Amino acid sequence: MNTKITIAIDGFSSTGKSTLAKQLAKHLGYIYVDTGAMYRAVAYFAMQKGFITSSTFDKSALIAALPTIQLSFEFNETLGFAEMYLNNENVETQIRTIEVSNYVSKVAEVSEVRAKLVEQQQEMGKNKGIVMDGRDIGTVVFPEAELKIFMTASAATRAQRRFAELQQKGDEVSYEEVLKNVEERDYIDTHRADSPLVIADDAIEIDNSELNKAEQFTIVLDLVNEVIKAI
Ligand code: DC
Repeated sequence: MNTKITIAIDGFSSTGKSTLAKQLAKHLGYIYVDTGAMYRAVAYFAMQKGFITSSTFDKSALIAALPTIQLSFEFNETLGFAEMYLNNENVETQIRTIEVSNYVSKVAEVSEVRAKLVEQQQEMGKNKGIVMDGRDIGTVVFPEAELKIFMTASAATRAQRRFAELQQKGDEVSYEEVLKNVEERDYIDTHRADSPLVIADDAIEIDNSELNKAEQFTIVLDLVNEVIKAI
């Protein structure tokens, strides 16, 4: 029963991928990696350097600066999950703002950015016993993952969830703005040339519009146990 597997969780933004991935990792004693946080940290870096603004994006400058970007996760015992560090600075709060959400899909379209992050993600998962969530985990990062989950929910449901989260943090943003951001990111994420968000042939799709967190967790944990039993 000590068999460790790789669990890939992909899907649209705000489908609760990270909630599910964190629950699974905690229950199984696996490492959890939020790859969206890595793309967000690169977007935050690009914003700080002025490489990306509401009207401009200097891709070449970002690509040239990639070797100076060091990303790492550090487990926060109090919070119970790993926080994102950019060049040794904790950026967990900064990367969750609507500004970063508005720029991140553009940054995630850049192949050089993806290559750098995918390499690091593959290194983190080389010993298995990992739950990784993102957009291309089952298709590009770990095509050989033993369990692939693809999460979906309606755009309105997802925007409502993200809106509630942002409001709780005191972020002054309207529901309409959040919905627009969710729809724009869906479009860019599914239409980009490099590693678009697509469902892997062997992924199991879960629409959680009508599922609560506990129900969703039970369904996926059953799948994990089935996969491990079959190995
Ligand atoms: O999961 P998230 O919303 O925090 O992800 C932020 C953005 O990063 C998302 O719009 C697309 C991009 N992303 C990606 O292209 N590939 C991944 N593996 C994870 C995220």
